[in-house]
Amino acid sequence: MAAPLGYDLTVQQLIPGYASLARLSVALLAASPLGAPSGAPVLVAGCGTGAELVEAQAQRPDWHLWAIDPSNEMLQAAKARLGDSSSAIHWQQTTVEALDADSRFCGALSVLVLQSLPDDGSKLAFLTALARSLEPGGQLVLVDLMAPERSPLQSQVQAAWLGFQKASGLRGLDTDGADLEPLTQGLHPIGEARLTALVNAAGFGDPARVFQALGYEGFLLQRRR
Ligand SMILES: C[S@@+](CC[C@H](N)C(=O)[O-])C[C@H]1O[C@@H](n2cnc3c(N)ncnc32)[C@H](O)[C@@H]1O
Repeated sequence: MAAPLGYDLTVQQLIPGYASLARLSVALLAASPLGAPSGAPVLVAGCGTGAELVEAQAQRPDWHLWAIDPSNEMLQAAKARLGDSSSAIHWQQTTVEALDADSRFCGALSVLVLQSLPDDGSKLAFLTALARSLEPGGQLVLVDLMAPERSPLQSQVQAAWLGFQKASGLRGLDTDGADLEPLTQGLHPIGEARLTALVNAAGFGDPARVFQALGYEGFLLQRRR
């Protein structure tokens, strides 16, 4: 994971709709049966620099927030961003997979995390740990870069993504898109059929799509009862 320096700007230049993602994700969870009640415990898995935490505190100051991330650098950046209100959050430097087996949340957010794990059992382990950490009926908002669909229009979609990045001021991109690849380097996007198989195996019902901007898609998942 890149150092937090410049992360917040880069991610907005790279991902269409990123500025709305945290707001939408929190609103979705706040409207869920288990997330709606006051004081619900909510996990922010891979909190990064804290975008979802800022939004969660604004929309649902009553939630008990658990912010986890394996990167100390990210956690420190998130704490600095939250300022005084960071003391209301439970922070833990860990992965979802290493979370205490007794943890039980009413809802969870995972924004741009699964995409970085290879589909060699790591994605399934991550999703299984998330399902295990939720109460039965608890919901997860999952947002990731997805694998491109096979479509004759796909090259136009890729070109539009590059155009979006350039128009947003992202530096270092050639006109032929030669530098686009490094921005997806280290990511392991999967298609929707594979995602459905993985989340079902992990203990969730079928994903409901709630967001899409080019290749970025968001899904609402519910842990089976
Ligand atoms: C691209 S950042 C996204 C941060 C934030 N959610 C956002 O939307 O800006 C991905 C974050 O996931 C964290 N991460 C990677 N693997 C993880 C895992 N197995 N469990 C929890 N967090 C993880 C990384 O350290 C990184 O901070």
